[in-house]
Amino acid sequence: MNKVTAIAPANIAFIKYWGRSNHELFLPANSSISMNLSNCLTTTTVELHSLLKQDEVEIGQEGRDYKKLLPNTEKNKLVFAQIERIRKMAGSTTHVKIKTQNSFPADSGIASSASGFAALTSALLNAYDLSDKFEDKVELSRQTRLSGAVSAARSCLDGFVELIVNGQNQDAYAIQIAPANHWKLVDLVAVVDHRSKKTSSSQGHLLAETSPYFMTRLEEMRSRIDEVRQSILDQKLSTLGLLIELETISMHTVMMTSRPPIYYWQSGTIEIINKIQLWRENGLEAYFTIDAGANVHIICEEPRAAEVEKNLTQLTCVKQVIKNLPGQGVRLSQKHLS
Ligand code: PMV
Repeated sequence: MNKVTAIAPANIAFIKYWGRSNHELFLPANSSISMNLSNCLTTTTVELHSLLKQDEVEIGQEGRDYKKLLPNTEKNKLVFAQIERIRKMAGSTTHVKIKTQNSFPADSGIASSASGFAALTSALLNAYDLSDKFEDKVELSRQTRLSGAVSAARSCLDGFVELIVNGQNQDAYAIQIAPANHWKLVDLVAVVDHRSKKTSSSQGHLLAETSPYFMTRLEEMRSRIDEVRQSILDQKLSTLGLLIELETISMHTVMMTSRPPIYYWQSGTIEIINKIQLWRENGLEAYFTIDAGANVHIICEEPRAAEVEKNLTQLTCVKQVIKNLPGQGVRLSQKHLS
C-alpha cells in the first residue's frame, strides 16, 4: 500500500509511566494503565515517494495551516528515527511524505505524543507492507513503544489498556483490560493553558530517578496497579477516583523533587483541584488526574458529566473543556489528509 491514513486516540493514564529502567530499549520503570479518549485524536497520512531524497513531515491542528516538522527537538527527532527504523525493518530505501493533524492542542498534557506516535507507527507499518505487525495489536504496541513515546503503546488497543513491563525479557507491550463500551466513564479535559510545556516528558523520564521519592513511588505502585485494574473491572468510581488522585500526586512529587525539578502545575491547576474536592464534599462525584502538563482531566460518570462541565466552564482559569468517553484504539481510514 502506498498511501495510508491512521487515526489514533490520546489516552489518560490512571497509573502513570514516569521514568525508565532501560533508556535504550524504552523500558518503563513500571506498568501503567490508561483509558483512550474518544475526542482527542491524531490523523496521520503517510505516502511513499520513490523520488524523495529525504523524509518530509508536516504537522497541523484542525483549522490551522500545516507547518514543516524539523528534527530540532527530542520529540521531533523520535519521529524521524521511527520512520528510519520501520523503513529499515521493511528493507526499503524509499522516503515518505507525512501529514499529521491533531483535533486538540498539542504538548499540553493531553498526550498528543501518544496519539501522534500510535498513528504514525500504524500508518508507516501499513505503507511499508508490514501490515502483519499492525494487525497483531500486541506487536503494534511494541513497535509503537520502540519509537520512544512509550505511552503511545496504550493507544493501540480499544478502551481501557495496560502497558505491561516484563523486565526479565526486556520487553513491554499493551493488552486490553476492558473494551470501550465496558463503562461510561467521562474524562472532561479542563484546558488551563494551550501552550506547549517547557520540559518534555522525554527529558522528564531521564530525571525521574534523581528524585529521592522515585523508589518509594515504585514500591507503592505494586499494590496500586492491581487496585486500579480491579476498580475498572468492577466499575467502582469511588475506589478508582481516590487511587488516581493519589497516583497523580505521587508522580508530580517525583517531578517536583527531581534534580532539576519540573513544575507542570499552574495556579489554575491548583484551583481546579480545590474545586473538585469542594464539589465532592457537596455530593458531586468527580476526581482529578494530571499528566505532564498544567491541564486537569476530571473523571466522573456520564450522569454527572453535564453538571461538572457546567461548573468547570464557570471558572475563569478554564479556557476550554473537551469531553471524552472511553475510545477506540488506533484504526485505518480511507480519508487521507491532503
Ligand atoms: O510516553 P511519554 O514519553 O509521552 O510519557 C508519558 C508521561 C505521562 O503522560 C505523564 C504518563 C503516562 O503514562 O501517560
